[in-house]
Amino acid sequence: MDKIVVKGGKPLTGDVKISSAKNSVLPIIAASILSNGKCIIENAPMLEDVFVISDVLRSISADVNIDRDNNRVIIESSNICDFEPCCDLVKKLRASFLIMGPMVARFGRVRISLPGGCNIGTRPIDLHLKGFAALGADINVGYGYVEAKANELIGNNIYLDFPSVGATENIMMAATMAKGETIIENAAEEPEIEDLANYLNKMGANIKGAGTGKIKIVGVKEFKSVTHRPIYDRIEAGTFMVASAITKSKIKILGVDEEHLKPIIAKLTEMGVIIEVDNDNLVIDGRRELKPIDIKTMPYPGFPTDMQAQMMGLLSSIKGTSVITETIFENRFMHAPEMKRMGANIKIDGRSAVIEGVNKLTGCEVKATDLRAGAALILCGLAAEGNTEVTDIYHVDRGYMGIEKKLKGLGAEIYRCF
Ligand code: EPZ
Repeated sequence: MDKIVVKGGKPLTGDVKISSAKNSVLPIIAASILSNGKCIIENAPMLEDVFVISDVLRSISADVNIDRDNNRVIIESSNICDFEPCCDLVKKLRASFLIMGPMVARFGRVRISLPGGCNIGTRPIDLHLKGFAALGADINVGYGYVEAKANELIGNNIYLDFPSVGATENIMMAATMAKGETIIENAAEEPEIEDLANYLNKMGANIKGAGTGKIKIVGVKEFKSVTHRPIYDRIEAGTFMVASAITKSKIKILGVDEEHLKPIIAKLTEMGVIIEVDNDNLVIDGRRELKPIDIKTMPYPGFPTDMQAQMMGLLSSIKGTSVITETIFENRFMHAPEMKRMGANIKIDGRSAVIEGVNKLTGCEVKATDLRAGAALILCGLAAEGNTEVTDIYHVDRGYMGIEKKLKGLGAEIYRCF
């Protein structure tokens, strides 16, 4: 199994280009099931998760071409003739569940393996299923599968118990072909949802309010071909912002807008990081003495849970006491024991972590337990004394395109062992 080796202590310098958002591209690929024509996704990140969801679409006879040379994914869904995607593939990638809404909208049926939990939590799907039922689908769960059937979906008013990103996306996609109007309230407001709605509207959908807590969808009959360039990955951008702070460096991050990064900019600025907007770029200066802070993860526009591990690594290297409260997932502190192996001083109490900054982190072998935990451990390795080996790096490859190449381009001493 691959691992990444980092020799710590080197400051970073230069520019880094941010890729398109994994959490935009995955629902966008799923949404392509709705179209009768050709769907072209440009500047697509060549990530493991993109390859797996493409295989999921192929397993129901969609035609998916991944053009690695030009970073494009081309999807033709006119030949779909199977309504039960490959179980092994669905279990590999939770986001596969996002094909349920488009399938039940376009074909009136889908039978899909229940997505398992994962390391960060049980990841239930009750809100997705309640939304489909509210649109008139018959839902049957059993034997490890969930089946949805509907002769016709009828628009309805749906109030989400929790602003779930996936449930908002799945229900929004299902409602695009429901008869009449659907209103989703207490909807998730993440930028990736607005990007998905822009993609769907380009295809011919009628969606208003995506990116706010109230989304209005009027059903349409047919979707056409579309070409789309997804938004940049705000979590990858945030990860590199923390890389600058944890190595006390000044770097430039290319191809981002400060709007989607506001919660991350706010907390890093509170610590003393100097962040300047330079057109579509951000200049991050982490060379000053930084202060400890408290963080509470919240649905967007609150502080993103996907940045929690990275911030824990940074706060471990800042003198003073910080507290992180994780309100989104019930088990998203698995990176803490790995950071403690590097000398971090972290006490976990339920959903809270108390971090006492230490003078230095020391390199050793650590294990990536999930995507963001792995990225955070690489960041800790950049600051640690000596070498850090991060194993199970396949987790990181799910969401970061060539992270070691990008960090090497900033001057880090980092390489991948195959
Ligand atoms: C999306 O996951 C992201 N994944 C996650 O990113 C991200 O952490 C999460 O949103 C929160 O921002 C993709 O977009 C592919 P949720 P999702 O539904 O949709 C509860 C990463 O690292 N819930 O908003 O699964 C759930 O248990 C990944 O890139 C229900 O109770 O997240 C959790 O506590 C990790 N019932 C909370 O909502 C449901 O039916 C947030 O989940 C659905 C969710």
